[in-house]
Amino acid sequence: MNLEHNNKAYRIDGVSIKELAEKFGTPCFVYSESSISKSFQEIKDVFGSDKKNIYYSVKANSSLSILKLLLNMGAGFDIVSMGELDRVIKIGANPKKIVYSGVGKSESDIKHSIELGIYCINVESFAELERINKIAGDLNIKAPVAIRVNPNIDPGSHEYISTGLESTKFGINLKNMMDAFIYADKEQFIDLIGIDYHIGSQIETLDPFIEAIVSVSKIIKELKSKDINLELIDMGGGLGINYEKNTSPTMKQYGEAINKAIKDNELDSYNLILELGRSIVGNAGYLITKVEYIKKDSEKNYVIVDAGMDNLIRPALYGAWHNIVCINTNNEEKILCDVVGPVCECSDFLGKDRELSVKQDDILVICSCGAYASSMASNYNSRPKPPEIIIRNGEAILISKKEEISDLYSREIII
Ligand code: LLP
Repeated sequence: MNLEHNNKAYRIDGVSIKELAEKFGTPCFVYSESSISKSFQEIKDVFGSDKKNIYYSVKANSSLSILKLLLNMGAGFDIVSMGELDRVIKIGANPKKIVYSGVGKSESDIKHSIELGIYCINVESFAELERINKIAGDLNIKAPVAIRVNPNIDPGSHEYISTGLESTKFGINLKNMMDAFIYADKEQFIDLIGIDYHIGSQIETLDPFIEAIVSVSKIIKELKSKDINLELIDMGGGLGINYEKNTSPTMKQYGEAINKAIKDNELDSYNLILELGRSIVGNAGYLITKVEYIKKDSEKNYVIVDAGMDNLIRPALYGAWHNIVCINTNNEEKILCDVVGPVCECSDFLGKDRELSVKQDDILVICSCGAYASSMASNYNSRPKPPEIIIRNGEAILISKKEEISDLYSREIII
């Protein structure tokens, strides 16, 4: 974490949070560039080589400036929509370093990706494979694909983000995947280059990652016996970060464990991709918010702030826990409270049962908001999206302007 506290002032990479709040207004997102670079460099140091590629999962935080930063550090990109594809192309990414996942690719999505010449389409169903074959045939271009398998591994995280379980919509299950490989291998307009999986997100132990590698190595052996040879293993992302406790493995531990499993299973010769999102940006972002009111009820104390579930939906959606820090030093007695937003939903909370020493107009910092915060934000209750700022070399730079209320209805037509 880059949140520092010295001389009674809270700072992010040396910049006073009080001054950030005054200059940019609240709520606002603030990112530490050094923290993002450090995380990326940490995994690159253990897992960066010709055959070992780190792709950034754009959905975690799709800010153009953050994408550009990671591109400059050598990242490839994992995208799941044409919107994400357009973003990475806009910042100058090489199509040959883009992989495309997702269960619902439309005809035009597939056509555009093939024409652009991206490295790989990660196929999630037999029907998608047939569609790709047809479109590639019409274009007379061979489409590079990897089959996304669902290895039925429990990553031990929240059920909404446990994508590697057979009960989810993701990938092709172990029973049906061989048919998909055989079809892809024989079809004229499909260039079967690899195998792909992504077992889940916010995974806090190394075992599921290893289990997945072992499972994939068995599939690869079976494929070889059928004379189907691949060049790529896309291992997905999923490494967790520390929100509350120091439980997640470090990038180094993760990279070393993957390296060992790859070696033990004799998979060194493959082109390997990691698709990491949260572990690169998650702990590098903060949501800065102001206390509007303190409401003391007999049952509960509510700290009502100007950020809400429209800015950070993770607590409402997954019951996620984010550390909340009050940056003002005051002598208020700590109160047990729920930190809630202004949105008209009971689920609009940022933290429950917190002990905070806090008063009206204080500034609170919601930590670990670099991933799946701004990228999942909405305009619910017609609330404009907050500005986003990055700290680079001790300077606060605006990377996304605050949305204006008029932006919210700029596409609407009054009839
Ligand atoms: N690759 C694929 C195919 C994915 O679906 C995902 C995330 C990633 C890579 C990156 O996973 P990461 O390294 O960030 O764990 N909104 C949820 C997380 C959803 C993750 C969806 N897929 C949250 O806020 O916890």
